[in-house]
Amino acid sequence: MKRAYRILAYLIALGVMVQAAVVVLAVDGLGKWVEGGGVLDKAVVESESLPFDEAVGFTIHAVTGLLIIPLLAIGLMVLSFFVKTPGAVRWAGAVLALVVLQGALGLAGHTTPLLGGLHGLNALILFSTAVYAAQHSRTAPAPRDLGENLGAPAQSISRG
Ligand code: HEM
Repeated sequence: MKRAYRILAYLIALGVMVQAAVVVLAVDGLGKWVEGGGVLDKAVVESESLPFDEAVGFTIHAVTGLLIIPLLAIGLMVLSFFVKTPGAVRWAGAVLALVVLQGALGLAGHTTPLLGGLHGLNALILFSTAVYAAQHSRTAPAPRDLGENLGAPAQSISRG
């Protein structure tokens, strides 16, 4: 269970890396397309077809951000209740909250670009938190069995 938790947390971190890569791919493709005479207007943005190949990066970014990473984060949250590691639930909750915030900032960035800036920043926080959750689950000590010493005879202290 602990292993599955760790893998999911690392997959979320990997997802953030994919997100960064595909969105830059798409933005670079857009720049090259405009350089070549392409014109970006409302009609192009709203059309179903991709005006240049790299625009697929925008589609991958939306699907990964609205579906794949949220599903991984929900999976991590569910698993955290079965992992007997102190802090597992707390860190999975932090990852899930950051994923929800990330999606909201990504969508809000279309109308309020400043929030798009926060979207980029929050991605770094999400990445670090997911990696921390993965590593913490490996290194955190198992909860002490407080009952293990119950009933054990008290040790006498000898004084020389
Ligand atoms: C360094 C990492 C990231 C960068 C640089 C980045 C950048 C961007 C940019 C430039 C946009 C506006 C373009 C567009 O709508 O496609 C965007 C939108 C979006 N991003 Fe990200 N993003 C990153 C990570 C993430 C992550 C980790 C998630 C989800 C967990 C995410 C979810 C979204 C969503 C849902 C949208 C709106 C998509 C839409 O309206 O179709 N992004 N992002």
